[in-house]
Amino acid sequence: MNFRKIKDKVFAVGVQDWGRRLFDSLIPLPDGTSYNSYLLQGSEKTAIIDTVDPAFADKFFENLEGLEKLDYIITLHSEQDHSGSIPLLLERFPNAELICSPKAKDLVVEHLLVAPEKIRVMEDGEKLSLGDKTLRFIHTPWVHWPETMVAYLEEDRILFSCDFLGSHWTTSDLFVEDDPAVIEAARRYYAEIMMPFRSFILKNLEKVKQLDIDLVAPSHGPIWKKPEVIISAYEDWSSERVENKVLIPFVSMHGSTHKMVDYFADELIRLGVKVELFDLAVTDIGKLAMSLIDAATIVIGSPTVHVGPHPFVANTAILANVLKPKARFAAIIGSYGWGTRVVDSILGLLPNLKAEVLGAVICKGEAKEDTKKELTQLAELIAKKHQELGLIK
Ligand code: FEO
Repeated sequence: MNFRKIKDKVFAVGVQDWGRRLFDSLIPLPDGTSYNSYLLQGSEKTAIIDTVDPAFADKFFENLEGLEKLDYIITLHSEQDHSGSIPLLLERFPNAELICSPKAKDLVVEHLLVAPEKIRVMEDGEKLSLGDKTLRFIHTPWVHWPETMVAYLEEDRILFSCDFLGSHWTTSDLFVEDDPAVIEAARRYYAEIMMPFRSFILKNLEKVKQLDIDLVAPSHGPIWKKPEVIISAYEDWSSERVENKVLIPFVSMHGSTHKMVDYFADELIRLGVKVELFDLAVTDIGKLAMSLIDAATIVIGSPTVHVGPHPFVANTAILANVLKPKARFAAIIGSYGWGTRVVDSILGLLPNLKAEVLGAVICKGEAKEDTKKELTQLAELIAKKHQELGLIK
């Protein structure tokens, strides 16, 4: 048995995945992650909220050793890192009911092959009594799937939020207050997972803020002892606020595009604009995603490969398009060998970017004086735009 007490008869029974370095075969996890699962023992009924990635099912069942009875398995979100061990848990406790949101029912049936008659859905605001403990379910769609909901344990004032407000962070500590390293991990998590859903997040935060919350218990990362820390961070990240910052993701094959990027970055710095450069040949895309949260401008630097963008640039453009950053302005710079359609190709990959395109500076081979002049003019235009937004005092 490894029940770690959070409050009276409320326990953490999940696992830490210290060694995981990639999520969805896409997202870097420099600090690993955890799959949190919570055991609630009410005076009449016992419930588990979320399970663990099936790769860790053995450890999960070790943690649960000694558990004799389980009435409810609650899945707040159907993605397999939380729901994947549900079929095994149902085998172990065949009389348990599976509790989920109405939209999750189909997902649970399709992804986990759970028999529909095992499932009971909870409407928005509906309560589930465990005897002396009461769970209230609140639908919070699109954080980050359509079916997501949170559960509020009324008597103990704990919000179980699953992915929402979570962090890819491993620790033997159950709780966090305001450790900047964990907030940074939550920011990375937000950038990679939540950012496309900013408007939904703001609506869901309003619902959550109506509650009197002592603890926010997500299904990744430690439990927030100061809920306002992570809630206010989410409000800021999801707001329209941008910084006086130009994000420059680039790649270079023979150095010509790199020289343009360096010249252009120096011009921006001279004009009082912050820059963040990411060489896409070596960069951590999680860091790039974090920079996308509040960059006012994105300038993509790409050489040309067979008239199109370098594949690393195309890959990043597709990712940025999915993440829907709030950048106000965009531009493209780069060098080509003998011919190019790089600008149209890159813009075609970014239909979701609502930024004003300020121009493109593309040159053949080495950047000469006329190209440098164009780069300076582009930097000046960006600085002017930032000034108009009040970002440069
Ligand atoms: Fe942690 Fe969307 O799963």
